[in-house]
Amino acid sequence: MLLLTLNGLLKMFLVPIESFHIPDWEKWKPRILSELKGGSTLATISSSGRTSFDDMESDFYDNNKRGVLPDYYYVVKEALEPILDEFQEDYPIPLRIINMWYQATRSGKMHGVHNHGPIGVSAVMYVDFDPTIHKPTTFYSPFPDYINGEVQEFTPEVKEGDIVFFPSFVHHCQDPNESDKQRVVVSMNFAGKGQGMLREPEPLTISRGPV
Ligand SMILES: [Fe+2]
Repeated sequence: MLLLTLNGLLKMFLVPIESFHIPDWEKWKPRILSELKGGSTLATISSSGRTSFDDMESDFYDNNKRGVLPDYYYVVKEALEPILDEFQEDYPIPLRIINMWYQATRSGKMHGVHNHGPIGVSAVMYVDFDPTIHKPTTFYSPFPDYINGEVQEFTPEVKEGDIVFFPSFVHHCQDPNESDKQRVVVSMNFAGKGQGMLREPEPLTISRGPV
């Protein structure tokens, strides 16, 4: 138990959030984007005809059904290598990616309020993102404001090629992308203490042809 001598204002609990810009982003963007294929629309329609708040294109369910991380896992991991080394200094257990998926929205598609599970840390990487048109992720405080009881919102300022880390349990959403210009993010979860993972995919082999 951490015991502190109280002398004046002390912030008892905090919700960390950390962001980085991926070095050489111009090099990584086309490589990552070209590998984001397949997946299905996640929107569902209830018996009353109401659509769900998870209306986007994503490979999330496909990856989880197969139990395998997507093929672009390796290129994303390579792009993130210097950042993960730095972020590791702030995360007290070894950083292990246990899930990864992409999501693309345009023409009113969105992702409603959700979280990524009770433990571990998650990240959202802005792969195709125009800050003059698109909105970043909005986060919600896990506890209400102690003065007025309201749930507080926080929206970090981001640009394309940024990655934002946050505790997996923090609720967040993506507002509808009303433009025709696609907004693409890659999201991932890092293991909390004792958490399992999807299998790594077969590494890609390069065919060199006859020598
Ligand atoms: Fe999310």
